[in-house]
Amino acid sequence: MAKQKIILDCDPGHDDALALLMALSSDKVELIGITTSAGNQLPEKTFDNTRKLLALANREDIPVAMGALKPLRRELIIADDVHGESGLDGAELPEPTAVAEKISGNDLLAKLLRESDEKVTIIATGPLTNIAIFLLSHPELKEKIELISFMGGACFGGNITPHAEFNIYVDPEAADIVVKSGVPTAMFGLDVTLKAQLFEEDIQEIRAIGNPVARTMADLLDFFNLTTTVPFLAEEGHIEGIHMHDPCAMAYVIDPSLFKVLPMHVEVETSETLALGSTVVDYDDLFEREKNVLVGFDIDLPKFKALVIDTMAYFSK
Ligand code: RIB
Ligand code: CA
Repeated sequence: MAKQKIILDCDPGHDDALALLMALSSDKVELIGITTSAGNQLPEKTFDNTRKLLALANREDIPVAMGALKPLRRELIIADDVHGESGLDGAELPEPTAVAEKISGNDLLAKLLRESDEKVTIIATGPLTNIAIFLLSHPELKEKIELISFMGGACFGGNITPHAEFNIYVDPEAADIVVKSGVPTAMFGLDVTLKAQLFEEDIQEIRAIGNPVARTMADLLDFFNLTTTVPFLAEEGHIEGIHMHDPCAMAYVIDPSLFKVLPMHVEVETSETLALGSTVVDYDDLFEREKNVLVGFDIDLPKFKALVIDTMAYFSK
């Protein structure tokens, strides 16, 4: 079966790193390019982190371009409290050897879609600024997009405010443009990504695989384990795993059977209220509006973990 061509827009970011490595190791997808977003860290850092991850995976052949320096109309907020000063704290990463691309993220997206003789799936694992800019500046290329699979939002709850998830909160206007774009879209929000948990024993299993990629990922997960949030209402004695948010958006494209997704109407709150940045998901179809987004609600965790282990083992070849 032919591989699905994909482009990753990411802000590495510990969980972004695993999503990227999943793409490189899967025989279901062909990663034809990467654009980097400002979110977990400053744009220069997420760009450098992406290039370092490709150097680690010995895949510097894949074009990488830096996207927008800030959200569409807001000041950038970053998640250095979660991902550290570098954006990928906790592991030593190799310096890239390839010369950095001079092309902008928006131009790389346009180039790759124009040149592709088949539709391309875009996986976005950071704020949606780059994707919104692309959709607004190249409406003629929307038909070349098979699907936009993004990590962000939530039907219920938030992680940066009580109602908003980080990726959406950083650039709510961009997210609203994406979900209203008419392009097929799948949303992997906290409802499902908080279930995508790895635990101490999984990190040990990954480290034991022993190749440099697996050992580095284990180091990154050890760090991420220190900064990941525990749901407020976790019962006494409850052991919360590490939330693998971004890999959900990638894993769905690799194997949709891993997830329960439902079509729902989704809009994004962009007004300056307590709910700013919330994804308003019409779970009970109360508005009776177009079901514009596939929303993820459940995951086959054993199969997801197997995919993670397969990803790490791939780099032993
Ligand atoms: O809320 C989780 C999201 O914010 C993930 O994409 C993580 O990498 C951070 O960007
Ligand atoms: Ca991310």
